[in-house]
Amino acid sequence: MTRTTPFPYGSFWKKVCLGSALLAGTVCGGLAQAAPALMPVPQSVSASNGVASLAGGVRIVWATPPSPLLQRAAARFSQRIGALTGASSAHGGPYVLHISASYDPAYLTVGAKEHYALTTSADGAHLEADGPAGVVHGLATFLQLVQKTSDGVVVERLHIDDAPRFAWRGLLLDVSRHFASVETVKRQLDAMELLKLNVLHWHLNDGTGFRVESRVFPKLTSVGSHGQYYTQAEVRDIVTYAADRGIRVVPEFDVPGHALAVLQAYPELAAQPLPEVNAVGENLNNPAMDPTNPRTLTFIRALYAEMETLFPDHYFHSGGDEVLGTQWTSNPKIAAYMKVHGYKDAPALQAAFTAQVEKILSSQGRVMMGWDEVSEAPIPKNVVVEGWRGSKWTGSATQAGHPVVVSSGYYLDMLTPSRTHYAIDPYDTKANGITPEELTETHPKITPLLQAFIQDPNAAPLTDDQKKMVLGAEGALWTEVVSENMLDARLWPRTAALAERFWSSENVRDVDDLERRLPVVMAELQSTGLQAVQHENALKEALAPAHTGPLSTLLSVTVPVRNYALNRLASKSGDAMLSAPVAIADPDAFEAIRFNDMAKRYVAGEKSLKSPLKAMLASWAANDEAFVAIAADVPALEEVTPVSHTVAALSNAGLNILNGASGTAWRLDAQHLIAAQEELFHNSSNHLLSLKREQPPGGLLIAILPGIKALISSQN
Ligand code: ACM
Repeated sequence: MTRTTPFPYGSFWKKVCLGSALLAGTVCGGLAQAAPALMPVPQSVSASNGVASLAGGVRIVWATPPSPLLQRAAARFSQRIGALTGASSAHGGPYVLHISASYDPAYLTVGAKEHYALTTSADGAHLEADGPAGVVHGLATFLQLVQKTSDGVVVERLHIDDAPRFAWRGLLLDVSRHFASVETVKRQLDAMELLKLNVLHWHLNDGTGFRVESRVFPKLTSVGSHGQYYTQAEVRDIVTYAADRGIRVVPEFDVPGHALAVLQAYPELAAQPLPEVNAVGENLNNPAMDPTNPRTLTFIRALYAEMETLFPDHYFHSGGDEVLGTQWTSNPKIAAYMKVHGYKDAPALQAAFTAQVEKILSSQGRVMMGWDEVSEAPIPKNVVVEGWRGSKWTGSATQAGHPVVVSSGYYLDMLTPSRTHYAIDPYDTKANGITPEELTETHPKITPLLQAFIQDPNAAPLTDDQKKMVLGAEGALWTEVVSENMLDARLWPRTAALAERFWSSENVRDVDDLERRLPVVMAELQSTGLQAVQHENALKEALAPAHTGPLSTLLSVTVPVRNYALNRLASKSGDAMLSAPVAIADPDAFEAIRFNDMAKRYVAGEKSLKSPLKAMLASWAANDEAFVAIAADVPALEEVTPVSHTVAALSNAGLNILNGASGTAWRLDAQHLIAAQEELFHNSSNHLLSLKREQPPGGLLIAILPGIKALISSQN
């Protein structure tokens, strides 16, 4: 970890300093040259009193003998301090961190006590927590206060009082579409711990594979896993690993849709003949179970009972999403059953089935959780509804008395930048969904399927009682186009932004400050074990052996297409997209963000930025020739060469502005290029458009567009 370069004080930091200084009448001085990047922002932070040296290392002293779990938390803390600071040669007396923690019988439940207070003084620190979760969180905060300065390793001196806004702060990991090894899952749990996330929603079966060893139904893995699954011992290991970090594991075994892998193993439960595996254009999400076959519920009962021996959490996710009605209505036997029993359509049949699944789970002592489709079923109020099709479901499900976990707006596979997700508040019933205007652009007719995704302009805000029903929220990464070696970079740092949205006060909304802190947090995650950079480097190396520089430069100013445009490109090109430049392109292109910010400040009058801006633009303009050279005979690079050309053309136009060039032809050309790029951004601005509109070569959008536009527009 090298944080020796001065990190600009975030505006959050300034506000904390100034606010507290005004309140307390103290001077907020003595900050080290680099301010810490606290994420998620705590509920309350005092003014900084400067720093204390950690040159002698940190020694933990417990008020009462620590449990084995807390001892392991302390060991991780010490190991991470070492990783962050490179401090191997402690000298001087150690800095003592006193920890007192109460026993919490609710640890690893939604009622866990997560509050902590941390005071870091000149002569030692105190961490007081109401339970083990608070200790884990307080240690994570302490790590973010540690800095390596030119004067050595220090900790910021201040007082923090902190507790989460929401009890449920999750991350959904889809290991069906692309499997993730035990080691890879553990890396994500380590990062989750550092960002105070506390639920791993583990999506363990889908069309592509069933991923847990079943001894009751061995064909689920011998046939349905294609050789990639967790043994029961591995599942237990991961659940224990998560528990150590204050993270609950909520498994999802999705029924009755998304069932292809299950049905390959047990085709007698299928509603329709199964499609050929790997058939081109086949939607692997479609195959569904036959809800009218009594063996289907018998299977679910026995499978869930077995899986519950592996997953101790009180909550059990049974999916329930995206059941294709024609799977049932076009099966004459099922259609006849529906007629006899008075089910007017497939959703009515699904509602009855969902009620049966709920009865199974409650009889087994679990609380069912399901996607928002299940809220249309006659189910008890304690069933947790997870909203995904739009924010309005938070309103309707809480209105019906259900606890809700919000994942609508937090789908990381949409490949939108952190700032987009960050702007969405879990309480906001209008925040996410296709707008009526967006809909008319592509779909003049509203089908019942689309209706569920449409934003409701009249959705009422949540009442205080409804707000109490919102347990929290989850980020979700569906992995159709995310292979294991892309996972770390697709999850982080964007999941850190979500963690802040789910933990911090809803008033914490400064996007610029978020974007300043995210690279620091990402560097810390890398130092403590994340492999995003190593994996991205390996992907680059495979494309341009020993000559990755020009590719890195292009990727520093580009972002992937959004809202499933990449999934659509991948459906045409197969696995090629998993190793193409777009697989490495980061939705948060920090270099481009920095440029856009500088360009806007320059236009606003900060003329000292002219020289660094020129240097950036000159390097991007010059990159094109180098890129063309490495792209020769590498199809994945040749494909994005037009993007490289456009980056160069836009950069040259920006240089012309900064150099005060005369003439109008180049300016008009640049304006046309900007308009064309803006259209490409628009073309993947929602998931209906991205299905229909032209996408840029190789799925790369040019992220420096706002900065270039600001420069060009400044001299009309
Ligand atoms: C979902 O994304 N089908 C829950």
